[in-house]
Amino acid sequence: MSRCLLPLVGLLGVVLGGCRGRQAVLDPAGMQAEEISQLGTFFFVLGTVVLVLVVVFLVLAVLRGRRRAREEGEQAPEVEPSPAGERRLTVAVGASVAATVLVLLTLLLVDLFTGRTIRVLLDPNPLTVIVTGNQWWWQVQYEDRDPSRMLTTANEIHIPVGRPVRFRLRSNDVIHSFWAPNFHGKKDLVPGHPTTTWFRATRAGTFYGQCAEFCGTQHAHMRFVIVAEPQEQFEAWYRAQLQPARTPATPRQRRGQEVFLGSTCVMCHTIQGTPARGRVGPDLTHLAGRMTLAAASRPNTRGHRAGWIIDSHAIKPGNRMPPIPLTDEDLQALLAYLDTLR
Ligand code: CUA
Repeated sequence: MSRCLLPLVGLLGVVLGGCRGRQAVLDPAGMQAEEISQLGTFFFVLGTVVLVLVVVFLVLAVLRGRRRAREEGEQAPEVEPSPAGERRLTVAVGASVAATVLVLLTLLLVDLFTGRTIRVLLDPNPLTVIVTGNQWWWQVQYEDRDPSRMLTTANEIHIPVGRPVRFRLRSNDVIHSFWAPNFHGKKDLVPGHPTTTWFRATRAGTFYGQCAEFCGTQHAHMRFVIVAEPQEQFEAWYRAQLQPARTPATPRQRRGQEVFLGSTCVMCHTIQGTPARGRVGPDLTHLAGRMTLAAASRPNTRGHRAGWIIDSHAIKPGNRMPPIPLTDEDLQALLAYLDTLR
């Protein structure tokens, strides 16, 4: 028996182990995800108890049936149950129905209470982040009453630990779904129908999220990073992001900026502090400071940036960015300039 159970225990270990980490429902880092995870654990434990009881009763019934068959031997099987047997059967069926209703009612109530708990996060002064889904990247804008403190970035969301964050979700093209499993459940981004979701991070760390609604061929490469950090660290990041891009310092970097401003890049991308004001693609003002490239599908290294510029379709077929034909020298200069965007 124990030899049969070993692979099962191993499998459970792999499943649970795989569910912990930087993109995992079973490793909550936010208040809502904690509630949902507890609800999941409760469902799992109760379901296991029910399953074990059903199997035990089933085995007992089979054993009893066999014993009775042996005792009765050659006798003809009993077709009509006796009145006592009938009563026992009625009580057993009645008790099973009552137990089933009770279990389902318990699950329903626990589910309702969890739903209520995670909705109660109203805060008069939350941090508001507008997340806009695009095929296949995320635009991230921080709202502020003071327009000079509004900030736009892409694919990487920084949030302060402990402060409620309200996400206003929009889509520019098709339906996407915003899912950061360590923080909360999924919420769809529907074109023409803004939706809202809330997080409150309970611990610092770097986590990954994922588009959870099929939105085209590169749906699987539509990820994002969530950095939960202490308030002071968050404010320092925010202040740095509000700065315009650095002025290129070396001749090569200056040449790189010329290449950028003289090519089709400016049609789609913004770099604050330069005439580049495109709004189709991600804001690149602090590109080199981000951890990932192409909606968290590649690490943000110089080599990957080069590959992306030359032929982004080799990395993410079907994306909107055309290949940029550049001479080696211009490419190196452009890369040197992009390196300064921290
Ligand atoms: Cu966006 Cu799937």
